[in-house]
Amino acid sequence: MDKWNGIMQDVERMLLTKEEIADKVTQVGEAISRDYAGKNLLLIGVLKGSVVFMADLMRAITIPMGIEFMAVSSYGNSSQSSGVVKIEKDVDTDLAGKDVLIVEDILDTGMTLSYLKTLLNGRGPASIGIVTLCDKPSRRLVDIQPDYVGFEVPDEFLVGYGLDYAEHYRNLPGVGILKRSVYEK
Ligand code: IMP
Ligand code: MG
Repeated sequence: MDKWNGIMQDVERMLLTKEEIADKVTQVGEAISRDYAGKNLLLIGVLKGSVVFMADLMRAITIPMGIEFMAVSSYGNSSQSSGVVKIEKDVDTDLAGKDVLIVEDILDTGMTLSYLKTLLNGRGPASIGIVTLCDKPSRRLVDIQPDYVGFEVPDEFLVGYGLDYAEHYRNLPGVGILKRSVYEK
């Protein structure tokens, strides 16, 4: 891991290795391929955190499917989800009749996804579900359940495999716990 020292110096410890993630993504892809066989599957990734997961997950899905991306930002305090979400980039396609699966990097308070799910549900999809790489159930503020979860994770600030702190660390192949000293300055 020496060549990653510039990034690893800010990481307390690794939580998920790239091998563990790869195995899990394969399993989740198999489950989705089974459950959505014969349906009209559309994965909608929430930018930017979901891009790495999306790229791997779509290649673990073996049935016909499409992808779209959305970008959202939450109003107010940046470190705390307000639940009011602004759509910065919308999907380019009609969702009517589609079996939508929202792809997220991490489900934390649930505020963002709760808003997004309600919004997309209003567009007449055949079904709507959520797949998230990480789930922090202890942090939930609204009643929202993911349909597919990679890993239940502790209430720590995680980086890597798409997850960022201040736009950094997304390129780390595994998921690590960020040192508190990095954000408690
Ligand atoms: P929620 O509305 O609180 O569920 O916000 C979820 C979003 O917050 C995720 O999509 C991430 O962008 C961000 N987030 C929450 N926890 C973490 C973390 O541990 N590391 C990096 N981003 C996080
Ligand atoms: Mg996100």
